[in-house]
Amino acid sequence: MSRGLRVAVVGATGVVGTTMLELLRERKFPAREIVPFATERSAGRELEGGLRVEALNGGADLSGFDLALFSAGAGTSRDWASRFVEAGATVVDNSSAFRRDPEVPLVVSEVNPHALERHQGLIANPNCSTMQLMVALAPIHRKAGIERLIVATYQSVSGTGKKAIDELDTQADASLRGTAMPAPQIYPEPIAFNVIGAAGNFADGDDHTDEERKMMFETRKILEDESIGVAVTCVRVPVRVCHSEAVNVQTRDPLSAEEARELLAAAPGVILEDVPTPLRAEGRDEVFVGRIRRDESHPRALSMWVVSDNLRKGAATNAVQIAEVLVERDLLRARHSVAA
Ligand SMILES: NC(=O)c1ccc[n+]([C@@H]2O[C@H](COP(=O)([O-])OP(=O)(O)OC[C@H]3O[C@@H](n4cnc5c(N)ncnc54)[C@H](OP(=O)(O)O)[C@@H]3O)[C@@H](O)[C@H]2O)c1
Repeated sequence: MSRGLRVAVVGATGVVGTTMLELLRERKFPAREIVPFATERSAGRELEGGLRVEALNGGADLSGFDLALFSAGAGTSRDWASRFVEAGATVVDNSSAFRRDPEVPLVVSEVNPHALERHQGLIANPNCSTMQLMVALAPIHRKAGIERLIVATYQSVSGTGKKAIDELDTQADASLRGTAMPAPQIYPEPIAFNVIGAAGNFADGDDHTDEERKMMFETRKILEDESIGVAVTCVRVPVRVCHSEAVNVQTRDPLSAEEARELLAAAPGVILEDVPTPLRAEGRDEVFVGRIRRDESHPRALSMWVVSDNLRKGAATNAVQIAEVLVERDLLRARHSVAA
């Protein structure tokens, strides 16, 4: 007998939340009811499937949820995630709010689902750039041990949310019409027909952006190896959806390009292509890996190109996959579900 779960989607009107709702439908997640939450601005709005947005405020009824999928920014997660947990739900959070907490598992479904066994109500979904990197690199780490990574990301604007997509479109449109581009609101420089060599924000006194720090920290937590060296430059490019990454991986044991190709051809969630592109990867759940080749400057290093849809595998797909594992392994805390 299948069970029906009561699911809250917090941030349901955003680019990740919208994808989350699509995926719950697409993957036939066993939900008997889905309640979309957003700000008061969006309250009452009807979404696809006849769902009506509820405001997440003091009047919101948080009781009776088995699962809450959060993608509404770190501040909202800090304010609200623990309240859902206290009310009995298991929370899968897309923001950076809890990823560094040693008590909170940080999980990529193909890589470390075992970490879910120790959750205490809260599970963190990794940063989108780190997510796709982990799917591509975990098989290599298991086989040959990763000593050091050098990564340059080419991150799409949807990684910053729906307002950033509008900013790219508006600037590109103005430029193509030959009129002045509107001043940037989201990024420090125009993003249309440009490349910004520092994606994310700088904390006081830090010469790395928070996006770069996330990849450095999260890689080690997910691969459970604090000795891995990570050098990363996060870059924003005028692409709507999908992050790309130029990756150089130095292993402890020798691994040929051919062996890496064989490993990745058999890896869950990976598709090998000659030269993956964002336009081909958009709308897909897999991580696309190409250009695997020996780094001629080092005896134990390989270079490759990794592309994936940041809204799907980088965020919503992994969150829903985590929820599926929680259901399969009977790891949801609440028992509000009814027989369907
Ligand atoms: N975009 C990505 O590729 C990606 C990948 C991984 C993780 N994430 C994380 O996912 C989260 C959402 O990102 P996004 O790109 O989907 O952003 P977005 O398009 O700007 O959407 C933000 C969503 O959060 C809601 N929201 C904001 N403040 C809220 C509050 N106080 N209470 C309730 N709802 C609130 C918004 O509601 P309104 O529409 O009512 O304003 C909207 O539904 C962020 O934490 C981000 O770091 C994003």
